[in-house]
Amino acid sequence: MFAFDIDPDMPTAQRWDEIMAAADALTEGEADAVANMANVAALLWQFLPDVNWTGFYRMSGGELVLGPFQGKAACIRIPVGKGVCGAAVADKATQLVADVHAFEGHIACDAESRAELVVPLLRDGEVLGVIDLDSPTPSRFSNEDAAGCERLAEMLVSRLPAAL
Ligand code: SME
Repeated sequence: MFAFDIDPDMPTAQRWDEIMAAADALTEGEADAVANMANVAALLWQFLPDVNWTGFYRMSGGELVLGPFQGKAACIRIPVGKGVCGAAVADKATQLVADVHAFEGHIACDAESRAELVVPLLRDGEVLGVIDLDSPTPSRFSNEDAAGCERLAEMLVSRLPAAL
């Protein structure tokens, strides 16, 4: 239904501008959380080069539970404070991990994953869930990716209900 042209050589900041514009267009006026997360997971998968997992975990019953994603089947439940995703919830802060092998407690859903970027979805200081990006290439994600994904998270929180 939606066709986007993606230039493989696009600079990172511009790439995130494109993702933002597409996510904005796809989620505007739509209040369904699953639909919005599913489309954004697909956009991230489509726009970002060199990733092997893009998606969401949402807070449910005091832990992270798998949400819409693209990539291989993944761990379903992650306690707060465990792994890179759980650390993002506990710290209420982005986790930019150059090499997951060096991250104590990393949860390996796909043995191929080496770099990971996790951004919390924060509303009024409360974590609704996280955006999780994985890559098979160490140091794949930069500070620019983190900043772009944080902008996306902020926009998305305004389009999502309080409970995911
Ligand atoms: N590696 C994550 C688990 C989720 S998967 O990467 C999809 C972590 O350590 O929290």
